[in-house]
Amino acid sequence: MAEPRTVLITGAASGIGRALAHRYASEGARLLLVDLNDPTGTAAEVTGTAESTSTAAVDVREASATADAVTTLAAGQPIDVVVNCAGVLPPIDPVDAVSPDDFKRTIDINLTGSFNVVHAVVPHLRSGSHLALIASLGGLIAGYRYTAYSASKFGVVGLAETIRMELAQRGIQVHAICPGEVTTPMVDAEIAAGDSVQRAVKMMSGRPITAEQAADGIVTGIDSGSFFVIPSAQARVLSVITRVTPVPLRHRITDLSIRRAAKG
Ligand SMILES: NC(=O)c1ccc[n+]([C@@H]2O[C@H](COP(=O)([O-])OP(=O)(O)OC[C@H]3O[C@@H](n4cnc5c(N)ncnc54)[C@H](O)[C@@H]3O)[C@@H](O)[C@H]2O)c1
Repeated sequence: MAEPRTVLITGAASGIGRALAHRYASEGARLLLVDLNDPTGTAAEVTGTAESTSTAAVDVREASATADAVTTLAAGQPIDVVVNCAGVLPPIDPVDAVSPDDFKRTIDINLTGSFNVVHAVVPHLRSGSHLALIASLGGLIAGYRYTAYSASKFGVVGLAETIRMELAQRGIQVHAICPGEVTTPMVDAEIAAGDSVQRAVKMMSGRPITAEQAADGIVTGIDSGSFFVIPSAQARVLSVITRVTPVPLRHRITDLSIRRAAKG
């Protein structure tokens, strides 16, 4: 029988991170769970399914606390899979109404936090390990009024592209996970805040998937060795269309769509 894999998940207390904990538990993995909010609730849910669980309450903005927590959780053993899910979606406002504090906080958690996790985990990876960073479809295609969020997630894709070259030389695979909309507490809060134009534009990128469907697609994509993992068919098609459409035409289509959505 194969040795259980050791899997570290950040943002494991909620949404996609929590669903990933359940998904990896179902294969009998050893789980190392990290979140700003103590992820012991998720650990309790998978007790009896996972081989073992260890948890840490850590803010990924704190580089040394993140490194210390990872070292404690790894306990001298290599980590086979890391999925960095910790992230935030700030209020969706017109650019001149975006609070500079919200912009900074979003970059600090989504982008600098991703770097802090990479920096903390790389010493614990070995040839054959996987390091996956959750960016977003909004990190490949700019989201309307997603000023801070898309800027941070384009940064995460850039970070993944950059470290991929280096870590490939050590046999470590890097993945940029770019989900379209996934129904989680983050998206529930966005819908409740209700920017109707932004919502209408976003719906053009396809139907939301569940956190469980996202987790399935993410694990399959990581195991298959794909660099870009986009866990829904509609979002995959949209990312390909965006890549092959000349920029002036893409901008024209986007601008027309926004005008149409604004008319209601
Ligand atoms: N839900 C979507 O539609 C969607 C789409 C694309 C990408 N994503 C990305 O997926 C990831 C998970 O999102 P989700 O929808 O599951 O949201 P969620 O709000 O349900 O979960 C996010 C988790 O991150 C944790 N977190 C936030 N700040 C943290 C910090 N500073 N340190 C440590 N943990 C922190 C939260 O406590 C929470 O448990 C995020 O990076 C998000 O941007 C989500």
